[in-house]
Amino acid sequence: MVLGIESSCDETGAGVVSGGRLLGAALSSSMDEHARFGGVVPEIAARAHLHALAPCVRTAMAEADVRPSDLDAIAVTSGPGLSTALQTGVAAAKAYALAWNLPLYGVHHLAGHVAADTLEHGPPPGRSVALIVSGGHTSLLLLGDLARDPIVHLGDTRDDAAGEAFDKVARILGLGYPGGPAVDRAAREGSATAVRFPRAMLGAGFDFSFSGLKTAVARHVEAEGTRAPLADVAASFQEAVADVLTAKAVAACRAHGVDTLTIVGGVAANRRLRELAASRCAAAGLVLRVPPPRLCTDNGAMIAAVGELLVDAGAPPAGLTLATDPSAP
Ligand code: KG4
Ligand code: ZN
Repeated sequence: MVLGIESSCDETGAGVVSGGRLLGAALSSSMDEHARFGGVVPEIAARAHLHALAPCVRTAMAEADVRPSDLDAIAVTSGPGLSTALQTGVAAAKAYALAWNLPLYGVHHLAGHVAADTLEHGPPPGRSVALIVSGGHTSLLLLGDLARDPIVHLGDTRDDAAGEAFDKVARILGLGYPGGPAVDRAAREGSATAVRFPRAMLGAGFDFSFSGLKTAVARHVEAEGTRAPLADVAASFQEAVADVLTAKAVAACRAHGVDTLTIVGGVAANRRLRELAASRCAAAGLVLRVPPPRLCTDNGAMIAAVGELLVDAGAPPAGLTLATDPSAP
């Protein structure tokens, strides 16, 4: 039974996991406090974590109906993320580990995103390709055993992350922050073929680039002004992102002889990305694993899921000397 704590950005999350099952979770977001600044303000996020951590842990444990003495370990995100935000969560996790005499594990935030899917679809497949699409990352990874095998990095974004592109385009369209869900909603009323935005395929490799697309949207809006129906621009932009992401992910599976694709991270909550991934995987004979939206965005349960894999693999706990690593590779 593992308690997981997440505080790398603007979501405070706690979750309790046992036997690969999610028993209880709680989430608190400081998103609204950042809205008027157009992006996450690290100090505001850290203060919000300070207020929300203990209530989230209490709520998750109450929902799971577990007492401290039922727990076997605590896992906490140690990086990558915002430095002061990470420090708040790690300090809280150390306090719980000390008070309850439990081993403490540091978890890589992206391993958490990947493991989130195991809470929905069971143990990870032997080999798979994972596409992580969040506010800070756009990575294609070749995975084996999550607790033992090294993760092979196939490709990454060369500029903006996919979520960042959604957030920036939302700002261009005046849709506010956070941008991803707003663009997703606006796109429902629009046509994905209204505007042919560029797709940066960057040859046969597995790297991505989204800054040219963002600039193309800005130019289009500048040129067309209010004549450009916002829903059409949102839908066409979203289509360009989903097209490139799914085409490269499917190609990576083919290139590495893998039959399972897992898509995780906040952008995996996107309706069109989920739809296009499903149809392209079906056409290519691939198994697609995408967790439900609440497990795609940052949460504590995904950190607990990695914690349980580490405990089961007999990994040594980090203990009270655990340090944060804001720019963990
Ligand atoms: O994984 P996440 O919660 O936090 C990070 O680790 O970054 O991802 C947040 C990102 C934000 O950029 C947000 O705009 C985007 O995920 N996002 C979406 C959707 N929901 C969240 N992007 C597109 N469509 C969505 N429905
Ligand atoms: Zn994340």
